[in-house]
Amino acid sequence: MAVLVAGGAGYIGSHTAVALGEAGRDVVIVDNFVNSSRRAVDAVRVLSGAEVALVETDLCDGDAVRRVFAQHPITEVVHFAAHKAVAESVGEPLAYYRNNLDSLLGLLEAMLDNGVHRLVHSSSCTVYGQPEALPVSESAPLGAESPYGRTKLMGEQIITDVCAVRPMDAMMLRYFNPVGAHPSGTLGEDPNDVPNNLVPLVMEVACGRRETLQVFGDDYDTVDGSGVRDYIHVVDLAEAHVAALDVLAGGYRGAVAVNVGTGAGTSVLELIEAARRATGAAIPFEVCERRAGDVAKIWAATDLAAGLLGWQATRNIDDMMADHWHWQRHHPDGYRR
Ligand code: UD1
Repeated sequence: MAVLVAGGAGYIGSHTAVALGEAGRDVVIVDNFVNSSRRAVDAVRVLSGAEVALVETDLCDGDAVRRVFAQHPITEVVHFAAHKAVAESVGEPLAYYRNNLDSLLGLLEAMLDNGVHRLVHSSSCTVYGQPEALPVSESAPLGAESPYGRTKLMGEQIITDVCAVRPMDAMMLRYFNPVGAHPSGTLGEDPNDVPNNLVPLVMEVACGRRETLQVFGDDYDTVDGSGVRDYIHVVDLAEAHVAALDVLAGGYRGAVAVNVGTGAGTSVLELIEAARRATGAAIPFEVCERRAGDVAKIWAATDLAAGLLGWQATRNIDDMMADHWHWQRHHPDGYRR
């Protein structure tokens, strides 16, 4: 019995593979390494102490996916593999729809063909756009603003439709803003080119690779005018996947979307302060124009995660910054060093 972790060499996938191994599951990582490293798989093997098989293939290749199911005793699937850069998705919509939807369709078909019915799927709080009420609950209106976001929305709809008529049960986890790294400092986020997200950029400034941070707007209707997000430690997020699989294994039936956040909002300026505490660096910044497409503020309602998964985040913003810094300090060039 093994869990297929699609995209298991990526940032969230690799941390989840460790948590699954620690929870006693054998893991089969499938990854094409377009935005991930084999060294992450090496780290997963060391940290998890579990049996970790690796298949290097593209999940859009249906025959290859069927071979994975033929060659490994897969009983559960966690699906991370997807393109995830919002701005890139606006310029390359077809690449995003093709990659993110083909891989999901192929996995679902292979699961049905092989009688595998337990799926945990990566979704995102981007499906809410700018919510009318906060904290945002799973029943809030949906409406993604980018092709990337729409692939997440469509993914949820496809899974829900399949679960309604076939033996398939799914937890679609809507991640808020994952940050941090494994406390060992051997597993972390390794953006391919120039990072887009706040925390990797803050850490580049902290370690002197970048002079200043740009703060995108200080005139939002928030605590200090800067954007507010629900940052969640990637290890907490990883543990939510184990909890979701356990609930499915316990007999949960149907498809459900669940927020995975801490329930607390942190502004960009507050996050910079936390990063200063963790790194001891000055982290100079300049306030710039708002970034197109950004929402002012969002944080999660966490009652469904607590009630259904019996899970809640336990690590705070200082833990997130300390662990991210630990990784960044030892791996300034990510897995290349
Ligand atoms: C972004 C995506 C989201 C995706 C998520 C994946 C957009 C609009 N949203 O979320 O769909 O699921 O990444 O991790 O791109 N900020 C700065 N300066 C920077 C970078 C960011 O001030 O150099 C601010 C942003 O304006 C925002 C906050 O930091 O207020 C977080 O930004 P980011 O880390 O990019 O995440 P999101 O925009 O929330």
